[in-house]
Amino acid sequence: MVDFTLTDEQKNLREMAHDFAKNEMRPVAWEYDRDGTWPEEIIKKAWELQLMNNHIPAEYGGVGLGYLDGCIIEEELAWGCSGIQTSVGCNGLATAPLILGGSHELKKEYLGRLTEEPLLASFCLTEPDAGSDVSGMKTTAVKKGDKWVINGSKCFITNGTYANFYTVYAKTDKDAGHRGISAFIVPRDAGVVVDKKEDKMGQRASNTATITFPEVEIPADHLIGEENKGFKLAMMTLDRTRPGVAAMATGIARAAMEFAIDYSKERVQFGVPIAMHQAIQFMIADMATEVEASRLLTWKAATQLDNGERNTLVSSHAKRFAADTAMRVATDAVQIYGGYGFIKEYPVEKLMRDAKIMQLYEGTAQIQRLVIARETLLPRRA
Ligand code: CAA
Repeated sequence: MVDFTLTDEQKNLREMAHDFAKNEMRPVAWEYDRDGTWPEEIIKKAWELQLMNNHIPAEYGGVGLGYLDGCIIEEELAWGCSGIQTSVGCNGLATAPLILGGSHELKKEYLGRLTEEPLLASFCLTEPDAGSDVSGMKTTAVKKGDKWVINGSKCFITNGTYANFYTVYAKTDKDAGHRGISAFIVPRDAGVVVDKKEDKMGQRASNTATITFPEVEIPADHLIGEENKGFKLAMMTLDRTRPGVAAMATGIARAAMEFAIDYSKERVQFGVPIAMHQAIQFMIADMATEVEASRLLTWKAATQLDNGERNTLVSSHAKRFAADTAMRVATDAVQIYGGYGFIKEYPVEKLMRDAKIMQLYEGTAQIQRLVIARETLLPRRA
């Protein structure tokens, strides 16, 4: 059994994150969405309050919070604005492979950078022809003396334009499929080229760019873990970060539900607030159940990690259920607002656009089902 009674420390974290979301994110979220503003000042404040990088172990300058702690914070910040939170939270994804497999020296240097200054890092896995099919990647890394030379291009890279360093996956043995992929730390000043910034449907305050590595040379010791073991490192990373995406999706769904509840009490049709109509009540009842279930799955996946258990199955349950919930609840919130829901002046259309990415990044809704099916039909013992 999992006990989800929060400790006093976790309740304080939640309160602090909520206040930050309410006071620093909400007041600008819709304006930043409209203009696609880069939230530099908010990222800096989140860094100062340790609302980011809090996963970094104390020995590398962080506060070493657990996965459940992280999910509690992520739900609140995404309730404020999931676009800004995607930028604030991305260092967690970029550094997970380093924390899992990196040498002490590599961790000291690169985790240290993030705790000493409000810098950003990016996770570079996806390529134009290798999205769900990770092992189809074409980027290569070739060993030349005491250097690795990286060639290739990565797309949809969160914070790509602003990152100080990149966690990059590349083929080190072109003929070995997933067993020929390795992971590297690539500093921006090694010759990384920042290409196109995407103009997105939602999460418009977050930065998403194409990043190119033209013959980029990095020191041999910038390999993370063992050569040709990068695929597993990527999968283990995603097991650890998908609960965070699920927490964000729960935050979006909760925000949409709260707006829908408030509006349904104000909007009068047929002589009564529409909240008095059973059609609306049932929609809100479904929202409430699904938000609660999303949070419980998310917290279970995070707690398994905190307990040192393999969480692949529950991580995908949480990511797939919470992402689908965010999309459904935000769509129903627009429905409850009626025609006003379709107008940008009202808050819920942004949430509907933001929710869509939850079913796409860090593994699509279909990839989560594929993982769930495999884990359910052929459970792994390790
Ligand atoms: N933990 C540890 N090992 C794992 C694992 C896990 N969770 N999942 C798989 N493996 C191991 C397997 O045991 C197997 O090991 P062996 O080499 O010993 O046989 C190996 O990895 C290959 O596993 P599969 O046969 O299952 O691999 P596959 O090619 O069928 O792929 C997949 C599986 C689930 C489809 C995977 O490719 C996947 O998750 N794809 C989605 C990728 C994704 O989420 N991308 C998101 C990019 S990040 C992002 O979006 C953020 C951003 O900034 C926008």
